[in-house]
Amino acid sequence: MPLKNLWHNMNKAEIIYETEKYVQSVLEGDGSGHDWWHIDQVRKHALKIAQAEKDSDQFIVEMAALLHDIADHKAHNGDYEIGEKTAREWLSQFDLDEQQINEIAEIVGNISFSKGGEPMHTKEGMIVQDADRLEALGAIGVARCFAYGGNKQRLIYDPLGRDQSTSIQHFYDKLLKVKDFMNTEMGSRLAKERHQFLESFLEQFYAEWEGNK
Ligand code: NI
Repeated sequence: MPLKNLWHNMNKAEIIYETEKYVQSVLEGDGSGHDWWHIDQVRKHALKIAQAEKDSDQFIVEMAALLHDIADHKAHNGDYEIGEKTAREWLSQFDLDEQQINEIAEIVGNISFSKGGEPMHTKEGMIVQDADRLEALGAIGVARCFAYGGNKQRLIYDPLGRDQSTSIQHFYDKLLKVKDFMNTEMGSRLAKERHQFLESFLEQFYAEWEGNK
């Protein structure tokens, strides 16, 4: 660990760079869909939405996007606080003011869909949450859904409907609902386009399954 005073003289670009390296090292080799490239995608979407949204702090957006899956609760026996705690610990090394740390850590703590969707109360939070939700949609959403299902030993599909934990069932339980939970205008527009792709994917999937294509 470098000397503390070194970390305290960093500018925002350097803090982002150090955080990027840290997140990359922690999530390297993750097979559950929360790998580094997911983080990188979320950051990209988030910065794009942030540019369209007036008065959002890009530094907060980028840092929260980088840290949003840093300690996913699923990997920590359902400890919902672990992400926020880990983010706070990491951020406390830098010369950031308390409000910045609170804003970033709160986004990390509130982002998960499975927590029941407690609404984000900052614009930056809404942006990062939208960016993360986009990842559940479109071709990437489909790929992530089956990668996650495989990681959990789930069936692709059960035509008899006995197995309710298949990857196709996950479309109905979660993915097809995501577009109705978007916070920002741009997020919502992008989500609708990607939602369309989920619908066509399912249509083609069932047609192939029935031998009609
Ligand atoms: Ni995520």
